[in-house]
Amino acid sequence: MMANQTSALTTVVSYPERGEGGNNRYRGNCSPKLVQDLIAHFGIQDICDYMCGSNTTGDAARAMGISSHTYDLHSGFDLLHCDIPERPQFIFWHPPYWDIIKYSDVMYRASEVQQRYGYDPRRYDLSRIPTWEAFVQAMNYCMMKQFCALEKGGRMAVLVGDIKKKGRLLSMIFELTKPGTLENVIIKAQHNCVSDRRSYSGRFIPIVHEYVLLLRKDEPLIYPLLMTYQLKGDVRDMPGATWRDILADAMESFRCPVSLEQIYGAVGNYKRAQHQQHWKDKVRQTLQYHPSIFYSPGRGVWALKKYA
Ligand SMILES: C[S@@+](CC[C@H](N)C(=O)[O-])C[C@H]1O[C@@H](n2cnc3c(N)ncnc32)[C@H](O)[C@@H]1O
Repeated sequence: MMANQTSALTTVVSYPERGEGGNNRYRGNCSPKLVQDLIAHFGIQDICDYMCGSNTTGDAARAMGISSHTYDLHSGFDLLHCDIPERPQFIFWHPPYWDIIKYSDVMYRASEVQQRYGYDPRRYDLSRIPTWEAFVQAMNYCMMKQFCALEKGGRMAVLVGDIKKKGRLLSMIFELTKPGTLENVIIKAQHNCVSDRRSYSGRFIPIVHEYVLLLRKDEPLIYPLLMTYQLKGDVRDMPGATWRDILADAMESFRCPVSLEQIYGAVGNYKRAQHQQHWKDKVRQTLQYHPSIFYSPGRGVWALKKYA
């Protein structure tokens, strides 16, 4: 396939046959067909990959007759600390799925990298970062470092997945900083993963897709940034929450029947009460107005119907 051929790229892609290029035994590798479709779709003449793994990107570029610059921690390039040598037109980035697959000293020997390049790759390997929060920070540093290196009009395609741990979704796509113009999110079906052979019990929903995020650098110097923050919200200060929500939440935090005084104590110091002159009347009225949710087991005492 040549670079100017039309591609089959749509917002959902699936490559059940992986295709030739890279190494399917390098865990977490991707299909060269995805890289080839990106090359064809955008008419790319030169592609860079700073976490190339088994060099799927380099092989895809060669098959398409274009040039590539590919690097990895295993061959002397640490994206956290090394300067990006190019001013790329297009970057394909496929970072580790945090610690789901460890790379240094699993897919390649740390001692060999140390001997050849003078550093221990385990120190800089994104897949060996101990906490999710620190991984997100490192991932976003790498994101911005690559985006800053792009030429004006350049693009990044970022292949990321979601991770489920202890009932919590750790979503790379949500927590990734998105600089520049968000062009597309492509859903990519996953095939031949180790997790395909696992059987799951309970309520776990197997994850069978990942994402390709497409970003464009329209402006040099100043560009928009979309970022995710983790905040803690309090329903008692939340626009949009009703008195019913606030009282039900407050009573859920007690579980057992509570006195009106306790309810007043739980809500009185918060915005909703402070913005209402007769807030105690409002509390009593709300409790009486929703008999399907609240009931009074005794004088001046209230409880939630679902615990009755
Ligand atoms: C998901 S794999 C890439 C797979 C590749 N697309 C392929 O098809 O083989 C992620 C790669 O990131 C590399 N890596 C991890 N931390 C790195 C760092 N700080 N600098 C450069 N590469 C790093 C790992 O060695 C691994 O090869």
